[in-house]
Amino acid sequence: MVQSPHQPVLYQDIILALQPKNPGQYVDGTVGAGGHARGILEACAPDGRLLGLDVDPQALKLARKTLAPYGKRAHLAQASYTEMVMILAELGWDPIDGIVLDLGLSSMQLDTPERGFSFQHEAPLDMRFDPASPLRAADLVNTLPQDELANLIFRYGEERYARRIARAIVQARPINSTLALAAVVKSAKPARQRVHPATQTFQALRIKVNNELDQIEEVLPQTLMVLKAGGRLAIISFHSLEDRLVKEFFRRESRDCLCPPKQPVCTCGHHATLKEVTKKPITPRKAEINANPRARSAKLRIAEKL
Ligand SMILES: C[S@@+](CC[C@H](N)C(=O)[O-])C[C@H]1O[C@@H](n2cnc3c(N)ncnc32)[C@H](O)[C@@H]1O
Repeated sequence: MVQSPHQPVLYQDIILALQPKNPGQYVDGTVGAGGHARGILEACAPDGRLLGLDVDPQALKLARKTLAPYGKRAHLAQASYTEMVMILAELGWDPIDGIVLDLGLSSMQLDTPERGFSFQHEAPLDMRFDPASPLRAADLVNTLPQDELANLIFRYGEERYARRIARAIVQARPINSTLALAAVVKSAKPARQRVHPATQTFQALRIKVNNELDQIEEVLPQTLMVLKAGGRLAIISFHSLEDRLVKEFFRRESRDCLCPPKQPVCTCGHHATLKEVTKKPITPRKAEINANPRARSAKLRIAEKL
């Protein structure tokens, strides 16, 4: 059962970033419960429209409900944001005025115990955004060789105790539930930790199960293919691995030449395609964090297509 609705993070900032206008065309690549999408549809009324995508059929169900009042102005599809170019071409919608990506997982996913994202509730080790995709967290935990598991936890969880954790997991196999995994991870780490000891390991598994970083790398250049000149791209990330990919893409695409600085003549022929609107990311204000603690690590970066 879905426990709690998702509060859209940095809601006003997303609307200010995209400056939706009538009759603009927008993409919400991570539509979730439709919070940001609703704001965009309100702001581009009466004729602006929005394509909302999500890989999670349960999220789409909620989005359909939230966005029902907007009728055909909201087109929803169960698909990855990496399919946006194809879907927009099929709809005959490109070029696009604005794209929002609100990365990571929603409160509904985290708070639905049987999805297996949370180390606070007993559940099977699942963690798939799309329940039809083949790989579950339990498959990684119970089959990966110890060194690969350690690398995964180190790389995607930025977890300094990754090797100790991987050793403890391999010794405790088979591990099939969230709480069992959380207990094994806790036993492998020093007692005093600032955050819950399983936070980074769960993050690492979730990223791998859903291929999250590859998906981000894949979608970033696609956004350039569909945005019109002056169109805006707004991306909210929740941890440094995501934010780094976005930051580096924005930096690279806002430069006219990518040759090494000491090279006297440009040979790369690269031309800037984006202008960074935010040199530093926008973060939630205190009031938002107090009202929605899950917003605390959000970072919003905005760029404009040249
Ligand atoms: C933080 S939530 C978005 C919440 C949404 N902005 C709202 O206001 O309700 C992130 C959503 O992205 C979805 N998601 C994750 N990876 C995706 C992908 N590659 N393509 C499409 N959706 C994805 C998740 O299933 C989740 O519903």
